[in-house]
Amino acid sequence: MDGFVDLHCHILPGVDDGAKDMVDALALIDMARADGTAALVLTPHYRGRYRENTPGMLREVLTALQKKTPRMELYLANEAGYERELTDKLAEGRVLTINGSRYVLLELPMDIDPAQTLSAVREVADQAFIPILAHVERYDVFLRNRGLIDRVLDMGALIQINADSVLGQQGFAAKRFCHWLLKSRRAHFVASDSHDLKYRPPKLRECCEYVTKKYGEEYAAALFRENARVVLAGE
Ligand SMILES: [Fe+2]
Repeated sequence: MDGFVDLHCHILPGVDDGAKDMVDALALIDMARADGTAALVLTPHYRGRYRENTPGMLREVLTALQKKTPRMELYLANEAGYERELTDKLAEGRVLTINGSRYVLLELPMDIDPAQTLSAVREVADQAFIPILAHVERYDVFLRNRGLIDRVLDMGALIQINADSVLGQQGFAAKRFCHWLLKSRRAHFVASDSHDLKYRPPKLRECCEYVTKKYGEEYAAALFRENARVVLAGE
């Protein structure tokens, strides 16, 4: 079986609140490989002070990292924090889409309301990007308004959830919401959103085995591998 494709992680060293340095990043990559991951999409934050990281600088760090770990497939994107100028910045290449495709890993403000959610997603989708909503189970706005999920799906958005939330490690409400998404086949990707070895590690295997048991092999393959491969191919 092919390895996992982790669509969301903070392993690019020294650029956000994830891997601190090259040694840390290589330890995280070793852990991911041992867990069965074949490809990592490195998704450093684009928000707040991390907006000072330029795409050129991120690509340089990626090149240095790839040289030290040639066996792991590495790809680059930003976890793009929504802001008013985001679509312009995406179009100009100042914020990175996933592997240069039309797919954008989109993060929303945690305190966003339903109307703002719809307008943010619409704005990105209207510019011919395909928003992939990062860890939807972490937002109150979706937990309190499940119908919003169908509204954003109708706009062409795709849904990513975190492996630790599926396993219940982020509380009951997040877990219950993830299982509603999975049971109704509304989720498209499970990723690690890993930041470190201990609290948010780059592990997918346990979650994949659990999802396989509960929801079947075919859907698990789509969530942990195949859908992300489609994104990376820019299809
Ligand atoms: Fe993240």
